[in-house]
Amino acid sequence: MNPPIIVTIDGPAGTGKSSAASELAQRLGFDMLDTGAMYRAVALLSIELAIDPRDEHALAVAMDCARLAVDFSSRPPAIRLNSRDVHERIRDADVTGIVSLIASHHEVRVRLVRAQRDVAAQHERLVTEGRDQGSVVFPDATVRIWLDARPEVRAHRRSEELRSRGEVVNEARVLAEIIARDASDRGRAEGPLRKPVGADSIDTSTLSFATVVEELERLVRRRLHESDIGCGCGGGA
Ligand code: DC
Repeated sequence: MNPPIIVTIDGPAGTGKSSAASELAQRLGFDMLDTGAMYRAVALLSIELAIDPRDEHALAVAMDCARLAVDFSSRPPAIRLNSRDVHERIRDADVTGIVSLIASHHEVRVRLVRAQRDVAAQHERLVTEGRDQGSVVFPDATVRIWLDARPEVRAHRRSEELRSRGEVVNEARVLAEIIARDASDRGRAEGPLRKPVGADSIDTSTLSFATVVEELERLVRRRLHESDIGCGCGGGA
């Protein structure tokens, strides 16, 4: 039996983590988990149920009553809230505006960390991306990677993404929001945004998307080769 392989990719918003993780997973033949989407789904839950996003207890109760699932039959996997595909809706500004606050709650994190470990138990070849995957959720992961980029670069990428969705964008404001969200994600007591000790890191500031994916693939194959695991996914180390 092959040992399970978990590849974690962490880093701040706008480093291209989600798209790169998705492409990497496809190349390796692994499943991909976007854990930010799970926090976004809880933020959406709070909006739809009119729960104050500061009310940790009410959020926990709502989470225990809701069905939050990842549908691995679509690519990239879609997040489902009470059987509804909310993959697009969770990218809207109202969700983005409160998600960092939602993600700062202990009761929310405990539940989502458990859900993430449940996913890993069922998907033995997994690329999982977020803020705390290599530091808290899977500290023993086979390969742990930290992606970063300068805030201005990240703000530009995020702005382009919003423009491609037809939104009118003030890039200076996007930059201010990214800096504020980083500070909030870094400063919280639980699962703070930080480079996992011993993780490999890649600065994507000057790299194209294709190059980031190539570097990730090379790195993962090398680490798997070094650890004598191999991934049964073709290609050399
Ligand atoms: O990657 P993203 O922008 O979709 O993440 C949304 C929010 O969720 C962001 O504020 C960071 C938070 N998050 C987290 O705290 N832990 C994770 N593992 C993933 C995301």
